[in-house]
Amino acid sequence: MGILPLMPSYETPIDSALNELIDPELERPLGQLKMVRNVEVRRRKARVTIALPGPGYPAQSQESLVSLLQGALVEAGGPEGAEIAFEMLSDADQREVADYLATTGGDGQEFLPVTDPKSKTRVIGVSSGKGGVGKSSVAVNLAIALSLLGHKSAILDADVYGFSVPKMLGVTYRPMAVDRLVIPPKAQGVRCLSMGFFVGDDQPVIWRGPMLHKALEQFLKDAWWGDIDFLVVDMPPGTGDVAMSMAGYLPRTEVLVVTTPQPAAQRVAQRSALAAKQLKLPLRGVIENMSWFRGDDGKKYELFGSGGGQALADSLKVPLLGQVPLVPALREGADIGQPITASEPSSEPAQAFTGIAKQLASLGAPRRYRAELSVK
Ligand SMILES: Nc1ncnc2c1ncn2[C@@H]1O[C@H](COP(=O)(O)OP(=O)(O)OP(=O)(O)O)[C@@H](O)[C@H]1O
Ligand SMILES: [Mg+2]
Repeated sequence: MGILPLMPSYETPIDSALNELIDPELERPLGQLKMVRNVEVRRRKARVTIALPGPGYPAQSQESLVSLLQGALVEAGGPEGAEIAFEMLSDADQREVADYLATTGGDGQEFLPVTDPKSKTRVIGVSSGKGGVGKSSVAVNLAIALSLLGHKSAILDADVYGFSVPKMLGVTYRPMAVDRLVIPPKAQGVRCLSMGFFVGDDQPVIWRGPMLHKALEQFLKDAWWGDIDFLVVDMPPGTGDVAMSMAGYLPRTEVLVVTTPQPAAQRVAQRSALAAKQLKLPLRGVIENMSWFRGDDGKKYELFGSGGGQALADSLKVPLLGQVPLVPALREGADIGQPITASEPSSEPAQAFTGIAKQLASLGAPRRYRAELSVK
């Protein structure tokens, strides 16, 4: 016999267990993320070197990754209490990982980014004719309700002047980066990106048009949402620069209008309908917020009148997707970052959001998106 062929390097069961482990932050196998660099098992000692995919990783806690690795090692027959060392992925590898993340979903299938005119992600813009009617509360709770129904969802806080979404959702850490991609942090299973992450809490935001356009562009083009089914957007008001830019980058946005029940509110809410029309975005439905307060006696008290939501829906020829009662716990939950749909899913408002999410899902995407609005 001649010379033996070179042996391919076989993966040990421990190697493959670690490679197949799903990273809690990026939701992809560690092997695909090029994170497992070196595994040495000698006698009953193990040493594993993990390459971190970007600065600020893991944004949540290194402990959860370490305990995940330790658990997987033992399960694959390795020793307990392995030594785990960290290094940084090289720039070239970070770029490769970013390319992989940008195109490959959790199921291994290819997907298009949300900004692509052919993306399968439905973009749901939540708007209102005036402030304080509960636009952000609706956006946050709707995103959670969609997620609880099994639709992968995320939320973009595009209300750049009054960003409140991260706090309401309960986000506790900042976005991280993998090469060019900005990875939005998660809370309640929902990823969230907000201009609030990039400016200080007490800094007034005075954006000039071009600067804002640039910031939004970066925001939308570099954000990594993964293969989500829904991106809920807390919309900027009106048809100003921000709304125009947003509609340009997310031309497939379907608009929902939030209103309160007093009949006079309809006129104000009509304004956001008009804005949607000017931005050439399809209107899909109306949500009435603060519809009633349920007393201890179980009765509904219509504090702000009634019929506004239905009247608006009728005049816009779209369905009234739901009515959300006025509940102190909803505001309290928003203030402490525990949205009611996640913390009390059986409560009346959470059920209302679930109903709205179901209807929205069953409406399906509009038949025709306006491809001519897409950004090349
Ligand atoms: N159904 C509800 N029951 C009780 N409180 C609510 C309800 N909806 C909203 N709120 C509270 O009302 C306030 C305004 O709501 P929110 O911030 O969602 O409105 P908004 O339209 O986004 O306001 P802004 O114009 O300031 O962005 C918040 O304190 C919120 O917690
Ligand atoms: Mg708001």
